[in-house]
Amino acid sequence: MSYDVPSQAGTAAPRGGAGAGGAAAVGGAPGSDAMPFACVDALFKKACISCHSGDNNPQLDLDGERVEERLVGQASSQSGSCGGRTLVSTDGSPSLLLQKLSAAPPCGARMPVGPMLTNAEIECVTRWVDSVSSAGEN
Ligand code: HEC
Repeated sequence: MSYDVPSQAGTAAPRGGAGAGGAAAVGGAPGSDAMPFACVDALFKKACISCHSGDNNPQLDLDGERVEERLVGQASSQSGSCGGRTLVSTDGSPSLLLQKLSAAPPCGARMPVGPMLTNAEIECVTRWVDSVSSAGEN
């Protein structure tokens, strides 16, 4: 079963009426459909791509086009201590992306290195990952 990445057809295309800040995007029924990626993407741009982008890229590029495709169902880097895990699982198993935002990640440092995320920001990523992960269980 391959998971159909929702934004494949148009990068950052607004789905589900994700408004500025993505607040409107939060609230879909988990498991019924993938949550819009917009609030996650905005968060990456704000808090992650200073390290995780193109040239300046510890193992994971969270910038630019098709970020979702580099996350959903994808293995983490093989080079670091976080190697061999799934970034965003599609079967309900642990997703490294979320684990790295938790206080005690299973490998490496808590992300982002630097200022902490707000609870709302973590909630946004959590909901998106949960929606993707549980959608793949069916
Ligand atoms: C100041 C630089 C910096 C920032 C900002 C940062 N990271 Fe990282 N990230 C790193 C470094 C260095 C590593 C490799 C070491 C480790 O895993 O702790 C890493 C590793 C990771 C990994 C594991 C990748 C793999 O394939 O092994 C994930 C997932 C991750 N970061 C997510 C994030 C997210 C999400 C954000 C934003 C909320 C973020 N990072 C912000 C520096 C950063």
